[in-house]
Amino acid sequence: MPSRPNSFAFCGGAYGDEGKGRIVDQYVSDYSAKGPVFVYRDNGGSNAGHTVSFGKTKVALHQLLSGIFIESATTILGKGMVLHPGDLLEEMAEVKRATGGKIPAKVFIDEMAVVLLDTHRAYESVLQDWHTGNRGTTGRGISPAYVDVLLRHPIRMRDLASFDTEKITKHYRLYRDLCKGLGQNVAEKEVTSLAGPKQKVGSEKEFVARVKAQASELKPFISGVFDLLSKAWSDRKITFVFEKGQAIGLDVRWAAYPDFTASDTTFNGILGSTEGVVNPHEIEIRAGVVKATYMSSVGIRRLPSEMDEKHAHQIREHADEYGATTKRPRDILHFDVPAVSFFTRVGGLTHLVATHMDIVYPNQPVKVCVGYTQNGKKVGYRPDQLYLNTVKAVYREFAPWDVKALKAAKTKAELPKEAREYIKFLETELGVPMLMITTGAKRSEGVRFSQNALR
Ligand code: IMP
Repeated sequence: MPSRPNSFAFCGGAYGDEGKGRIVDQYVSDYSAKGPVFVYRDNGGSNAGHTVSFGKTKVALHQLLSGIFIESATTILGKGMVLHPGDLLEEMAEVKRATGGKIPAKVFIDEMAVVLLDTHRAYESVLQDWHTGNRGTTGRGISPAYVDVLLRHPIRMRDLASFDTEKITKHYRLYRDLCKGLGQNVAEKEVTSLAGPKQKVGSEKEFVARVKAQASELKPFISGVFDLLSKAWSDRKITFVFEKGQAIGLDVRWAAYPDFTASDTTFNGILGSTEGVVNPHEIEIRAGVVKATYMSSVGIRRLPSEMDEKHAHQIREHADEYGATTKRPRDILHFDVPAVSFFTRVGGLTHLVATHMDIVYPNQPVKVCVGYTQNGKKVGYRPDQLYLNTVKAVYREFAPWDVKALKAAKTKAELPKEAREYIKFLETELGVPMLMITTGAKRSEGVRFSQNALR
């Protein structure tokens, strides 16, 4: 399939928190300086999050997209997303506080996007109490909102725009009864909110009135986006940046069950979300973002390449590997080639981006899981926790590189030899070329590898 020039897509290539937001931001702002840019997201909702700076203010984006501070950018929240109106308004208010009153980018919410409400968050929490054992989620109500679609009773953004009171009331009653069936009172359930402390879902009357007020504030942003998208996609001078939520290792099909999110976290989700306008195989650069020298994971999954706690602690402190909202310490693992090569293949990646190349230590080899064995036989990754419990990691060690020299490098040739060799190893094992690496938190700290990297 011929590729459409000026199109880039980024997804998490492991278990999330790879630093993809920073890469997307960089692409959106650099390309915006050259011409119009569309930014599109097709999955997830406020379970995602990354921080962007506007002047001296830092703003946490969850549902709004990178480019929100760029006047010429057009951002589209796609059909495949699950959007919480209250959180969305709070994010918009944060953006306005930072700019002194306006939202610089154009924001379009696809009228077909799914509405996620406090009722979903309440029910998710009720289910969590009902389950034995921990089924951790971000608490944002993501799976119940997607389940509404599968059970054929979603509330779509257009139901908010036209305010379908009957539908919203029926929705409340359904979730009231579901919670009641499991012994809890939906009205009294306290749920998370970006606006501040947890708040009660409230009575039917309070709930419907709250959603109605939010709907009227959001209405100007809700519309059909099919024509806009089709026209822009066929104008090849317009740059498109697709920003995925979460990561392939959290995908509903590819994660180690039950630690998964309910959406399609691969580029394939773009096809359905755009109603066939954008075939992801046409996107010129489809990059998976990974941490170069280790991986992190949040959840109950147990992965084969666990690291000893001393080294994990060293990395956790050095790279601040704590949950952005929960502050939970993340599990730290050795880079797992079988898992990432599986994700690369099922995710249809054309490129890699390796972040955190600076997380190496003098005289400490970079230890990488290069394969699994089961009863002495070589085996690969499969998205099944019970299977993963039976495999043993096989390791290879790489010489560390000098971090000062790494950070000083502006080109591939200037990188320390050991870093170049390590990158070559990743490219060979994973079968896709490197697009760029990052060597520190600052935007200037990175090296582009391809002519398709930032121009
Ligand atoms: P949900 O997306 O809230 O349903 O959460 C399901 C699982 O995905 C949980 O283990 C979450 O911790 C994980 N998860 C969801 N979003 C992210 C993310 O952006 N980074 C890392 N983990 C995530």
